[in-house]
This record gives sequence, structure tokens and C-alpha cells, in this order.
Amino acid sequence: MIDRPRVFVARRIPDEGLDPIADVCELDLWTDELPPPRDELLRRVAGCDGILTLLTDRVDDALLDAAGPSLKVVSNYAVGYDNIDVPACARRGIAVGNTPGALTETTADLAWALLMAGARRVAEGDRYVRAGNWRTWGPLLLLGSDVHGATLGIVGFGRIGQAVARRAAGFGMTVLYSSRTRASAAVEMSLGATFVGLPELLERSDFVSLHVSLTPDTRGLIDAAALARMKRTAVLVNTARGPVVDPRALAAALRDGVIAAAALDVTDPEPIRPDDPLLTLDNCLVVPHIASASRATRGRMAAMAAANLLAGVHGQPLPTPVVRPS
Ligand code: DGY
Repeated sequence: MIDRPRVFVARRIPDEGLDPIADVCELDLWTDELPPPRDELLRRVAGCDGILTLLTDRVDDALLDAAGPSLKVVSNYAVGYDNIDVPACARRGIAVGNTPGALTETTADLAWALLMAGARRVAEGDRYVRAGNWRTWGPLLLLGSDVHGATLGIVGFGRIGQAVARRAAGFGMTVLYSSRTRASAAVEMSLGATFVGLPELLERSDFVSLHVSLTPDTRGLIDAAALARMKRTAVLVNTARGPVVDPRALAAALRDGVIAAAALDVTDPEPIRPDDPLLTLDNCLVVPHIASASRATRGRMAAMAAANLLAGVHGQPLPTPVVRPS
């Protein structure tokens, strides 16, 4: 048993996580708003027993080499862990943890906010008013689509996808979903959700909301061909990972009226470049990867990430270890 394990925490996280770590560890905290530059990250992890990373910190063989043999645990402050080479960690016997469950409802809330905003052109309306263009009530002004009674297609039916489906019930929507594995009959029944293939989902849905993790199979899943299957009136919502959507194909589809609108919490790359074509389009709404950003949820994520880190440095099983994507 180590007395005060050495840990590197790659950003200031809420006190619910930082305090318990500082209490028992020799803590090296990266306090800048921006992620540690790669060379700095590699330098700081050297000799650590544990590291707490964010989705902006790439954990690969080079980092694990730099950390050295003392490293026992990588605790990711996120439910997604596509920034981590999990097999590389497994080969070295390094535990990896994430924060599943903590952010499900909060992320579904934001997916819903984006869906509503995309349907009813909320961001466009705000820009219109601020630009001084609001002169009168207009019968044809900023017409959007109804959410109530529409068909929602959910791509990826894990915790967050199902939480989005629950919200759809209040709007009397028809819910379709596609997923690697079909949900149980009980889940389908309770959520009123129908399992379909992705092509059918794209063709029938008025709203398509993405909830898959980023894997080699889902990278570029929504490409030009997928967008072409969607209704011209459809709205695409992405709170999953930016690279699930081909950004060039999306910009072209929004510009050419292949689909009506997109509302994105995640982009490829992140942050989106200020000159990205998507930002020139009025029918594209972009927010800066804030789906889990409620005070309560970020506090819960911090507590979970700390619990994983502390268990790992003491050689105990992590409360929430990641499962390797198959
Ligand atoms: C996650 O947890 O994977 C989100 O993208 C950030 O909270």
C-alpha cells in the first residue's frame, strides 16, 4: 500500500472530486482552462500512480510509456472514452474508469433542448431580434416544424438514447430506434419504441438524434448517403461525438436543403474552427459540448471519477470500470 499516491489531474474539476483526491494523494493539478499541451502532459504523468483525464487528453502507448510502471489507473472524467486506448491499458494491467449514469438525464435534456431549438429555429430567432430585424408579427416569419406528434429516430439505444425516448412520450411522438443490440421487449414496450434498421429510421424520422459511442463502426456513420435518406424537413441532433457525422457532407446537406436543420453539441474537430462552413449556415446550431454541463451532474461526475482514481491507486476494483467496446 502506497502512503500518498502520486496523481495528475488534467484539469480543475468540481470540489466533489478534487477534495477527496487532495485529502489522500500527492496531487499535481493542471489549472489552465486549456488542456495540457502534449509534451507537458507526458512530462507531468511521469512516475504517477494514477491520472484523471478528460476527453481532450489522449491516452495511448506513448503516454503510458511516459507514465512508467507505477501507473495503475486512468480515470476519465466522462462517460465516453474514445480518447483512451483501452486495449493498450489492459495489456499493461492499468485499470480504466469512466462516469456512466451520472450524466444520462442531463445529456438527454440537452438533446431535447437542441431538438426543440432546431425545430423551432430558436437560435435563428434570437439572432434575428438582436440584429434589429423584428419589425412586426409575421405570418410567414421563421416557420419551423412541430415536435408534438412527429416521429423521432434514436440512433444508439443505451442509457442516454432511452432517456431521450422517455421525453418523447410527453410530446406524443412515434419513437423508432436503431442499435447494435435490440432492447428487451419490456424496454421497448415501456418506451413505446420500435426497433428498425438505420436506413428505415433515417427515411421515416422527422428528428434524428444520435446516441452512439465513437468506434471505428460509427465514425462517419452519418455521411452524404445517410443524409440523403433523411426527409428534407428533418432535423439532425448530435450530442454523441462529432466524428459520427461527416461535417462536410452535413454542411452540403444543410446548404442544399437535403435536410432542414442540424443542432450540434459536438463537432469534428473540437473546438469547431471559426471559419467552418457549418457556422455560415443559419440552419445549423452549435453549442460547445455542454450536454453534461449542469452543476449537479458535473459534481456527480467528479465524485465518480475521484472514486475510480482512488480505488485504482490503492489496487482496488474500480466502482465504474469501462467495458471495452466490442
Ligand atoms: C461524456 O461524458 O462523454 C461527455 O461527452 C462529456 O460529459
